[in-house]
Amino acid sequence: MTVLYGADYNPEQWPADVWDEDVRLMQQAGVNIVSLGIFAWSRIQPSEDVWDFAWLDTVIEKLQAGGVQVNLATATASPPPWVSARYPETLPADENGASYWPGSRQHFAPSSPTYRRLAGELVRRLAERYAHHPAVVMWHVGNEFGCHLPMDFSDSARDAYRVWLQSRYASIDVLNDAWGTSFWSQRYGSFDEIFPPRLAPYSHNPSSMLDYRRFTSDMLLECYLMEREILLAAGATQPITTNFMGPFKPADYRRWAPFMDVIADDCYPDPTNPNRVRDAAFQRDLVRSLKRGTPWLLWEQATDAVNWRPSNPGKRPGALLAETAQSIARGADGIMFFQWRQSRAGSEKFHSAMLPHAGTGTRTWDAVTDLGARLAALGDLPAPGRDARVALVFDWESWWAVEERDHPIEIDYLALVLEWYGAFHARNIQVDVIGPEEVDEGYDLAVAPVLYLLRDEGAAALSRFVEGGGTLLAGPFSDIVDTHDQFRSGGFLTQLGPLLGVRFEDFGALGGVSTGGTGVGAQTVRAAGAGGTVTFDLRGASLPGGIVAERVHAVGASVIATFETGLTAGSPALTRHAHGAGEGWYVATQPVAEGLDAVVAAVVEASGVRPVIDALPAGVEAARRGDLVTLINHGDDRVEIAIEGTDAETGAHIQHVVLESQGVAFVTAPVASRAAAGVLEPSAGDEAAASVTAAGAVPAR
Ligand code: GAL
Repeated sequence: MTVLYGADYNPEQWPADVWDEDVRLMQQAGVNIVSLGIFAWSRIQPSEDVWDFAWLDTVIEKLQAGGVQVNLATATASPPPWVSARYPETLPADENGASYWPGSRQHFAPSSPTYRRLAGELVRRLAERYAHHPAVVMWHVGNEFGCHLPMDFSDSARDAYRVWLQSRYASIDVLNDAWGTSFWSQRYGSFDEIFPPRLAPYSHNPSSMLDYRRFTSDMLLECYLMEREILLAAGATQPITTNFMGPFKPADYRRWAPFMDVIADDCYPDPTNPNRVRDAAFQRDLVRSLKRGTPWLLWEQATDAVNWRPSNPGKRPGALLAETAQSIARGADGIMFFQWRQSRAGSEKFHSAMLPHAGTGTRTWDAVTDLGARLAALGDLPAPGRDARVALVFDWESWWAVEERDHPIEIDYLALVLEWYGAFHARNIQVDVIGPEEVDEGYDLAVAPVLYLLRDEGAAALSRFVEGGGTLLAGPFSDIVDTHDQFRSGGFLTQLGPLLGVRFEDFGALGGVSTGGTGVGAQTVRAAGAGGTVTFDLRGASLPGGIVAERVHAVGASVIATFETGLTAGSPALTRHAHGAGEGWYVATQPVAEGLDAVVAAVVEASGVRPVIDALPAGVEAARRGDLVTLINHGDDRVEIAIEGTDAETGAHIQHVVLESQGVAFVTAPVASRAAAGVLEPSAGDEAAASVTAAGAVPAR
């Protein structure tokens, strides 16, 4: 489909006489869609009994007359002051049980029945008025669910948590077993004795923390589903979505994805992050993989500087195009910004926009109009397809569990996964980022780093994958606990051990973990440091390993590399084992730098996976979606690349491209034979997942 291009549009911040100019300038910029009214609740419903849709009718009419489509927001992300004043039970609470107060946004407890009633009424009125409006082509539910409030500890949460636990465990004895409450005298007599994990003298029961994270994600999802059901009940037939935030810890987006008609994502690469290209590529591959084989929408990015980091430099010249191209390359069909017109007041007045406060005679406006023209020239984009032959396993439950307290070492899961991703990204090898259960025969290689919590279904899928001929690289610190964060009987690596040919004896933490700042999307993550390192020998070279050096024994596996230093010196660091038609590799450390690269080089060679294009100059990123290859030069120097195909913007036949720094080329270059190249088309199952329209309750756990 033609690329959607536009922004959040907040006309309620401006007098009505600005609206005509907005539409005129949108046309000039090539805008074809806006997300309207995301924070307009207090304008639509200024008090409980007063509703005002007239202004919204007018704005929608003007947009429609100007040929701009509307992604209509349900406006539920920021309750008006009268809601908080009259219904304080809608407010969320912190770890101490103390209330959060209004005055910002997202000050609602997701499990509050009163919040849901009031939000539901707003959505119902919007849906009844606009479900059949021809200008409304999509629905935007809430906004960035959970963004500012990763956990709520209010009394509403307490009540809902008890109900949620009851439906998960049915009996308190089952819960006691699942949480291991015989430890520290935590045995519960009834569900009514359970509280949210508010501030306690020492660490909470880790199994309960894991459930509280599941509950938190489910409460946010319930809010989304409630709104979705109201929209559908009113006859809405437009796609319904909400905006994700990439690898956002509080919400397990994989559980949400079946209820999104299309995946939408917000991504704000940090210009000061040296790994910003890698991190943004990971985020885009992650969101594309949530509905494999189908396009997604970049629902928010910044035209230039944001205002919410400690220091907010603008983008370097050309970076807007390069970042946008990365989204297109990795499956996006929509390129949107926060926001259309820079605000004059409020917390975000220093945030860039498509139309800067300084007006149209600006570098930003030129970049925005140029980008609109280039995207329009692309015409219809091919669907992403199942182009990746490598699966990188990334799992929310494992993330939650592995970052709990009281472990051999503090682990920053996302940072470690990004290091593995980076070795593939640097090689321009296309990767899907998926859950363990989704690893299937469409891949040649699966990499499962730090898969601490491994569910039975995930273990079964990984076994099937290897038995069927796939190559699996697992470890370190994988297959340690079950779905309740309990050790399985029989030791560690109980599920994967047989296919890895390895027995796991003991952990081996190497020392402290430093904290740093690696920005990923809207979050800040700590960079994993190597408080200690070991070296291991791989193909005659001494390479650094970090964070852990586990003591494992080869039970049938060949030892490819051995620890040379540290307490585990002499024991296996990397093993390889033939199993079924495939093979399982285990790495007993998180290698750093050249170490990690060498391990990835070894499994890439063993599995035969290929880059999108061989031998690209350093700094050039390549990705394929169907027949479209995108090349982006993130380096400082001009490069020339041989590639035969059709320039997707001009239609010209080409045999090479020349890219300046930040330059981009979109080239239609079909894989000679998709079947011969082993490229999978999306399966029926993937397509079904992509077009789910029926609403449902939060799936049972
Ligand atoms: C997003 C949010 C927008 C705006 C933007 C600023 O998190 O959805 O409303 O605040 O960030 O970067």
